[in-house]
Amino acid sequence: MAKVLVAYYSRTGNTKKMAEIISVVLKDEGLQVDIKNISETNVDELINYDIIVFGSPTYYGSMAYQLKQLIDESVKLHGKLQGKIGAAFASAGNVAGGNETTISGILNAFLIHGMIVQGDSRGDHYGPVSLGLPDERAIKECQRFAKRNAVLAKKLFG
Ligand SMILES: Cc1cc2nc3c(=O)[nH]c(=O)nc-3n(C[C@H](O)[C@H](O)[C@H](O)COP(=O)(O)O)c2cc1C
Repeated sequence: MAKVLVAYYSRTGNTKKMAEIISVVLKDEGLQVDIKNISETNVDELINYDIIVFGSPTYYGSMAYQLKQLIDESVKLHGKLQGKIGAAFASAGNVAGGNETTISGILNAFLIHGMIVQGDSRGDHYGPVSLGLPDERAIKECQRFAKRNAVLAKKLFG
């Protein structure tokens, strides 16, 4: 059974809500899921997962520094995360407020680690985005994202 880490930073709860929606679907798909706040996530744990899913609010078009700190610390695992799946989601305050640039910053780090990143040709292309608390559209995108990554994980890791 593939193991998933869903780790997020959230100050006012919007990104946390997205993480919870994503985790429910991953569990329903039969994956073993740990959901954690970034502050509870130790960089050494990343090695234990087949899928690493990071979520962040959009801060000036980029991820929160708490997540960036974890990613920078992951240099100690460089080369050891190859072949794992990486996926990301973000919340923001405004349309075109930078949530895709936030997601793409996280995905860049996954790619540099040699991880596998799946885009989406139909839904939110980079990963699900929400303006504030997830509305009906964002909930559907979070669910679609989780399902697609679960299907990929089962293909790759059983
Ligand atoms: C320091 C700071 C910077 C922010 N920068 C942006 C921004 O560049 N674009 C945007 O759309 N929203 C911005 N926001 C709004 C947050 O991304 C938004 O409220 C988000 O949903 C908060 O997520 P959370 O509830 O998980 O903490 C910013 C908020 C803060 C506190």
